[in-house]
Amino acid sequence: MKNYKKMYFKKIGNKKRGFITALEQNKNIPFLIKRVYYNYFTPADVSRGYHAHKKLEQVLLCVSGNIKVKVDDGNKAEEIDLNNPNEGLYIGPGVWREMYDYSKNSVLLVLASDYYDEEDYIRDYDEFVNTIKKIKS
Ligand code: TYD
Repeated sequence: MKNYKKMYFKKIGNKKRGFITALEQNKNIPFLIKRVYYNYFTPADVSRGYHAHKKLEQVLLCVSGNIKVKVDDGNKAEEIDLNNPNEGLYIGPGVWREMYDYSKNSVLLVLASDYYDEEDYIRDYDEFVNTIKKIKS
């Protein structure tokens, strides 16, 4: 089963006054939020990510502009567009991700289930594929 999914959050408001989207841990976000970080001023020709996590769960939201994310579970890769502030992408453990095509002034907001820990990263694609194979066998 895929360990990532597109999420659609409630948009409160209207075009005249603008909108609010609320994110709440263990409610519409399926984990306790221990860390929030955001990535901004990324040039359009730069790709980021290139890693998977061993345990970390995250929800990615492009709160301004648009970004593309390639998610790969070691079996199949899929491209997801993040182009609405009320849409998110849940990514669980064991999913390789690459972010690219950052529009000007785009802001990628990430909610994470744990503190930053370099030990939780798999930054080598071959190691990622081997780890997935081991888990499945
Ligand atoms: P990284 O997660 O590799 O960024 P991306 O996936 O967007 O390419 O992190 C880049 C650098 O920032 C790396 O040196 C680790 C550091 N970092 C932190 O110190 N704290 C954090 O919460 C995150 C996400 C990264």
